[in-house]
Amino acid sequence: MATVANSQYWENRYQEGKTGWDLGQAAPPFVGLLDSPTAPTTGKIAVLGAGSGYDALLFAQRGFEVIGFDFAPSAIASASKLAQSRGIAAQFLQRNIFDLSAEFPHYFDYVLEHTCFCAIEMRDRSSYVKLVKSLLKPQGELIALFWAHNLPGGPPFGTTTAEICQYFESDFETNNLVLAKNSVPQRQAQEYLGRFIAKN
Ligand SMILES: C[S@@+](CC[C@H](N)C(=O)[O-])C[C@H]1O[C@@H](n2cnc3c(N)ncnc32)[C@H](O)[C@@H]1O
Repeated sequence: MATVANSQYWENRYQEGKTGWDLGQAAPPFVGLLDSPTAPTTGKIAVLGAGSGYDALLFAQRGFEVIGFDFAPSAIASASKLAQSRGIAAQFLQRNIFDLSAEFPHYFDYVLEHTCFCAIEMRDRSSYVKLVKSLLKPQGELIALFWAHNLPGGPPFGTTTAEICQYFESDFETNNLVLAKNSVPQRQAQEYLGRFIAKN
């Protein structure tokens, strides 16, 4: 049976159009961040579980060197097509994110995450934290929009801010996790923007 740890599960969702997480636009809190005085400076950024690519393309448009990763072929195809149609330079690679450490060791200035942490099996969360750290340069930054929901039925696994900090604090400074200001209406008061610097 296809489970969330398996690309077929997600591929089926894309093929059946059951993509309730997909905003059809970049997440407004990322737009707000890039427009703010504390916007990150440009650099190399990995987008994990990039889906249809809207967030990746936003960062690419703002001058970041972007590689989006997803293991669902349809997601990669949609994101690549969107980049091409908009004339935006961004790369999208079909990969299982848990295989990336060897290919991109300490390669990125940033990792971007949006509804990826809540989409992986809970037993894989510690490995996910290690993965993010392994992709970042020393003092690199995770920019994350965590969907800290408690909705029955997903997507797929709820979380809390306490839990997020508990997982990430071994490898990251987690003091910068705040309620996102301009979430889409259906996610108001459920999204937290985190900017976590990797510890040495
Ligand atoms: C809930 S969706 C979020 C997609 C996108 N970030 C967004 O907000 O629209 C989770 C995405 O992560 C991808 N994904 C989940 N586990 C993955 C893994 N181990 N490797 C690569 N991609 C994964 C899925 O295929 C899916 O596109």
